[in-house]
Amino acid sequence: MMCDIWKNTEEAEISAGELERYVADIRRLSVQWVVFSGGEPLMHSDLFRFCATLRGLGIRTTILSTGLLLERNAQRLVEHVDDVIVSLDGPQAVHDRIRRVQGAFEKLAQGVHAVHEIDPLFPVSARCTIQKENHAFVCETARAAKALGLQSISFLAADLTSEAFNRPGGWDGARQNKIALTQSEIAVLESQFDDLVSDSDSAQFVAENREKLQRIVRHYQAQVGLCAPAAPNCNAPWVSAVVEAGGTVRPCFFHRPVGTVNGLSLEQVLNGPEAVQFRRNLDVATNSVCQRCVCSLNWQPTRAERHRWAVDALSPQAPQPAYYDPVVDGWVLSRYSDVLAALHETRLCPVDSRASTPPERTDIEAQQQLRRDTLTALSRRKIQFWQTQFADLAHSRFRTLRSYTRFDVVREFAEPWSLAVALIVTEADEKEGERLSSLARKVSMAAADPLNEEIRQTAKGANQELAKILESSPIPMSGPAFVALSQTLPQFLANAWLALLRHPMQLERLRSEPMLIPVAIEELMRYAGLAHTLYRRASTKLNLAGATIEQGARVVLKLSSANRDPLQFPNPDVLDFSRRGGPQLALGMGPHSCAGGSLIRMLAGIATAEFAESVAALDAASPIEWQGGSGFRSPKRLYVSSRSA
Ligand code: HEM
Ligand code: SF4
Repeated sequence: MMCDIWKNTEEAEISAGELERYVADIRRLSVQWVVFSGGEPLMHSDLFRFCATLRGLGIRTTILSTGLLLERNAQRLVEHVDDVIVSLDGPQAVHDRIRRVQGAFEKLAQGVHAVHEIDPLFPVSARCTIQKENHAFVCETARAAKALGLQSISFLAADLTSEAFNRPGGWDGARQNKIALTQSEIAVLESQFDDLVSDSDSAQFVAENREKLQRIVRHYQAQVGLCAPAAPNCNAPWVSAVVEAGGTVRPCFFHRPVGTVNGLSLEQVLNGPEAVQFRRNLDVATNSVCQRCVCSLNWQPTRAERHRWAVDALSPQAPQPAYYDPVVDGWVLSRYSDVLAALHETRLCPVDSRASTPPERTDIEAQQQLRRDTLTALSRRKIQFWQTQFADLAHSRFRTLRSYTRFDVVREFAEPWSLAVALIVTEADEKEGERLSSLARKVSMAAADPLNEEIRQTAKGANQELAKILESSPIPMSGPAFVALSQTLPQFLANAWLALLRHPMQLERLRSEPMLIPVAIEELMRYAGLAHTLYRRASTKLNLAGATIEQGARVVLKLSSANRDPLQFPNPDVLDFSRRGGPQLALGMGPHSCAGGSLIRMLAGIATAEFAESVAALDAASPIEWQGGSGFRSPKRLYVSSRSA
């Protein structure tokens, strides 16, 4: 057997409690796929409960199994797992011989059959590690896999040199020779691969193309000195991690550990100094471990997957000391005290995420003027004047919705009400509502997904058109104001209300204590604020948060992480309207804090009070669908049951 974890008797299995602890981390890290290997994961006493939890979060689960226990677990596999990969070492006799288990192949066959009896389309595929004993049976192995009803087969070379899979010190020469191929055996393997890819049926069934199969040949050639070892294209340490039963965390199966989760969260380990240093120093192409790697990963998210990343916008990254991130080329501040200090620091100038230099003096002055104009246009008197009108609109809309048993509170309330508000505040022509709303949506999508160039280009035109239509508005920067009110506001409300629905006791408190609304809005902003990240450029060299920031350097402020800093807000992941932890930072703070803050607070208060009166609970039958991207995200639809239902 290639995988030696099964020999480990000290760390029998990850406990159920530990698994639960990982769930919070897994949500935070936007994990998309969890693969359980072993040993034999099917021997884990609590595996399926954990799989069910992960699936509830929209995370794919895969089990790598010997296949011996499939039959017994068939029903639960089909119910709780997305797919299974079985180790197949060859046709029947070869498989049994390598496994050293008489009848292992037959047991595997019965297991696959049992799974397919329940669900004929359930994906079970094979993985075959090529070595001395099976190198001449590649085509036969593929045929056997097909006859078993498996979906596909994947081949890989045996790992002969690393200390992975519970092999401290690696294998000795004698053990290596039992597995490695001689020169003549390599020639046999090559001809097996040739036959495999020239048969179009098999070629479709085999996961690897000719080039990838050739890598296996090269691996064995390098072993006997016929060619230099060459590393694959791999980004495993940047997109995945291996967590072992004892809590040890590795950047991939083969490299040394970067920490353990004992006493730390998985996120703290993966973004801790050792892991960051490891990734910074690793050059896959020249690293000797990578050059002998048999199981690499080059994962690139598709567009659809990028969207699915957005599992839950209400779980921001935990705060940590200031660090320099070479990927964003800037200092990242995420602790409350650090972010607060940066927001008050006048030598840090607000910039767009793309800006490569600090703004010019004239730009800064224009920005200050704009701020003053906005504050004048949104005076306290003006806000009071609008208040009754907006409250009446909200009340009558929710009154209609209460006659339904179940409704989508985003589409039926937050979006249309916010659009009506935006039209009134900017004094835009109501007849233009639909057009303005569609333009504003394009602009907002670009802000939510700033790395998407296609969306950004669309937004450019939309922005200009929006400004043109709103030319005569009395509100300064009427285009951005329209976007903030018609788009950003309902998106914030969707996040805030999801948070409320997940904390029913707090929702109940709002009904019995309506005076709580102002503090509730601050707590909802802390917990579910929409703007996660602000950008600054240093106008001069300065020391901040323990870092020396050079003139012109970028500084990234993680608002939502700071708002969950346990040093400022004890139990930060709990929504609690009794909290007294100092001001939240969702609308910024200090000289550049949101000029629309008073208006937004008033609007959020009106809408949330009506929401609490009208909405009973989240409709459990409708999964939450997220929209947005790396900038911000919010539920696209939020189905709720009505209180009068
Ligand atoms: C839910 C809606 C809103 C959110 C989440 C929001 C968020 C923010 C945040 C986080 C900042 C701080 C930027 C920084 O420090 O770099 C900001 C600034 C600002 N906001 Fe808002 N905002 C919203 C609505 C509005 C509205 C409706 C208006 C105007 C009508 C507005 C006008 C401004 C202005 C002018 C600034 C810049 C202040 C300055 O640089 O001095 N915002 N906003
Ligand atoms: S090539 Fe292999 S050893 Fe190197 S990082 Fe990727 S998975 Fe790890």
